[in-house]
Amino acid sequence: MNPERFSSAVLNWYDIHGRKDLPWQQNITPYRVWVSEIMLQQTQVSTVLGYFDRFMQALPDVQALAAASEDEVLHLWTGLGYYSRARNLHKTAKIVVTEHNGEFPRSVEALVVLPGIGRSTAGAIASLSMNIRAPILDGNVKRVLARYSAQSGYPGEPAVARALWDVAERYTPHIRVGNYTQAMMDLGATLCTRSKPTCLLCPLKEGCQAHRLGRETDFPEPKPRKTLPQKRTLMPLIINDDNAILLHRRPSSGLWGGLWSPPELDTVDQLGALTERHSLIMEQRQALPGLTHTFSHFQLNIEPWLIHVDSRNQSMTEPDWLWYNLANPPRLGLAAPVKKLLKRAEEALKGETV
Ligand code: ADE
Repeated sequence: MNPERFSSAVLNWYDIHGRKDLPWQQNITPYRVWVSEIMLQQTQVSTVLGYFDRFMQALPDVQALAAASEDEVLHLWTGLGYYSRARNLHKTAKIVVTEHNGEFPRSVEALVVLPGIGRSTAGAIASLSMNIRAPILDGNVKRVLARYSAQSGYPGEPAVARALWDVAERYTPHIRVGNYTQAMMDLGATLCTRSKPTCLLCPLKEGCQAHRLGRETDFPEPKPRKTLPQKRTLMPLIINDDNAILLHRRPSSGLWGGLWSPPELDTVDQLGALTERHSLIMEQRQALPGLTHTFSHFQLNIEPWLIHVDSRNQSMTEPDWLWYNLANPPRLGLAAPVKKLLKRAEEALKGETV
């Protein structure tokens, strides 16, 4: 969609469905919009409704806020949380009074240097209360635009954020910018929701790339998991002539406690001792493709080996060891990657016999 069609669709939707009854949408001033935007930064509309009017009655303008004690400001904020917002609010009020003659500066560049006002909040104050064409990109709008443009990557990455700001800038209209800003926030809050977006009712569904791909909830991408420490382990899948694989029960405490798995080795050299211990004669060995399993705190890189041993009808007498027959598997607990390994071993064996 070109920018004109995009903003028209958004504004037409706003005229019918947008919110127009919120207290900060009445008697619009930069002061009222600023206070509401700061309250709404980490707090839901429904909660803010219980605070906004009380705050305005106590401190009706920026001069009153600047002159108030910090205790009074924090008292009015009690229950809203994130109290640095209240302290920054107080600081900014003093700056506006002493350095800007009590008038909020009329540009994003000048607003954004004030304590507690980031780029998106500056854009919201400028567009909602001064009718200045300025884009916003709060959490809700980020979601709308990331989906609309199928923007890949985590928006916390500077390059991704830059790309989304470019999209926000491109579609911000030259007229009715305040209504447009409110509409984009409302779209994100009501239709373009995190988990089950109501695309059917969305005015942007025609141009939405995520919708076209049927991948709405893939955008925006979540924060990438930090790289986990790596561990490696060798897992010999020791297989006998009955197509049974040697497993042992792991100690009840620790990784995969009480589950059955192939033994673990640090190096292939330790294979001899293991087979000897069970009186097995090694015939041939074959490396299988590696398998990575991710735990919450590390990644385990499993190097499986298929080890054929010469034994038939061998019973296992050692406790916590058994021959796991692939054709007739006993019912016992296996960790997910072990289950996968056993399946791979089975496939490798089928390949051999074909
Ligand atoms: N969240 C942030 N700003 C908002 C606004 N003006 N209306 C509704 N939700 C918001």
